[in-house]
Amino acid sequence: MARTRRILWVTLATLLGVLLVGAGAVYARSESMLRRTYTVAQRPVAIPSDSASVARGAHLVNAVGTCATCHGEDLGGRVYADMGPIGIVAGPNLTPGRGGRGAVFRDDDWVRAIRFGTHRDGTSLIAMPSEVFMNMSDADLGAVVAYLERLPPIDREMPASRFRPLGRALLAAGKLNILTAPKTPARSSVASVPVGITPAYGKYLVEIAGCAGCHGYGLSGGRVAGPPGTPPASNLTPAGIGSRTEADLRRVLRQGRKPNGTPIDPFMPWKTYAGMTDDEIAAIWLYLRTVPAKPFGNK
Ligand code: HEC
Ligand code: HEC
Repeated sequence: MARTRRILWVTLATLLGVLLVGAGAVYARSESMLRRTYTVAQRPVAIPSDSASVARGAHLVNAVGTCATCHGEDLGGRVYADMGPIGIVAGPNLTPGRGGRGAVFRDDDWVRAIRFGTHRDGTSLIAMPSEVFMNMSDADLGAVVAYLERLPPIDREMPASRFRPLGRALLAAGKLNILTAPKTPARSSVASVPVGITPAYGKYLVEIAGCAGCHGYGLSGGRVAGPPGTPPASNLTPAGIGSRTEADLRRVLRQGRKPNGTPIDPFMPWKTYAGMTDDEIAAIWLYLRTVPAKPFGNK
């Protein structure tokens, strides 16, 4: 009897030890991933101050880049997703108000965050899609920064984005592909694509608007990382939109309605894209006609 009890205790103690060592290892591994610093091939990007460039920056932020989705309509910050035991993703306040990045950021800090996905200390941002914005040309990135530096101040203190224990375990196990810097190969300068109703400009818009982030790199659609119940993203290749027209695309982006009139799920950020110009939508349409046709979900 006493012997059985001793065996039981020894087993329990061993299990507990294994668990503690495991938790320590998970913590150490996730901590080293979060503390890792990235050196980026950053070259200064010219920040313009003329009103046309600032207006261009405003358009890119408010109608093309989906900044509002995570940083709030007023760019004063927003909790994008509180995922309980996994962690919290909050877009910081970008304005110069209290708690805002604009109060402390200098030109280079904006560029580092948006193009390279790192904090000022070189550690990776969490969940900020710089792998999308790194495609912005130097001129457009400069215009975006010029606009951000002129935002009206909003006082809002936001919680920091961070991982909780389950998130750390998933991160350490390589199951959470949510650190930005490893996804942004250094691009020290990006040439401009001439603005026009061309497939090339449409491709550029699709890249910096992040369509592929949900519709897949081949744009053929599939499951998205949305809240439970979010429908899969549609197939945007000719195999999916072959029978559609440019007017159909305009209705989706402007009114959030499919050709049959049913509303588009709000996870698709059409309210942002509603601010795109007719020419931009026309360019996107031309580009979508040229991408290789793929069956649904075949990324
Ligand atoms: C999918 C959500 C998402 C979108 C879309 C998004 N961001 Fe962010 N952004 C974040 C999160 C989350 C952070 C904070 C990351 C952290 O603290 O690790 C962040 C941080 C930032 C920072 C501050 C970096 C720092 O070092 O504190 C800047 C600047 C920024 N984003 C600009 C933008 C701009 C400009 C756009 C649109 C062109 C944009 N973001 C779109 C989620 C997003
Ligand atoms: C954050 C995720 C996300 C992003 C970014 C996104 N989409 Fe979507 N999109 C979706 C989802 C999800 C659906 C399906 C909505 C539904 O079925 O109600 C969808 C549906 C669509 C549809 C409707 C197709 C149909 O069935 O009629 C079109 C067109 C579309 N997206 C185009 C785009 C374009 C162009 C971009 C970039 C400018 C884009 N999307 C960016 C998630 C996204």
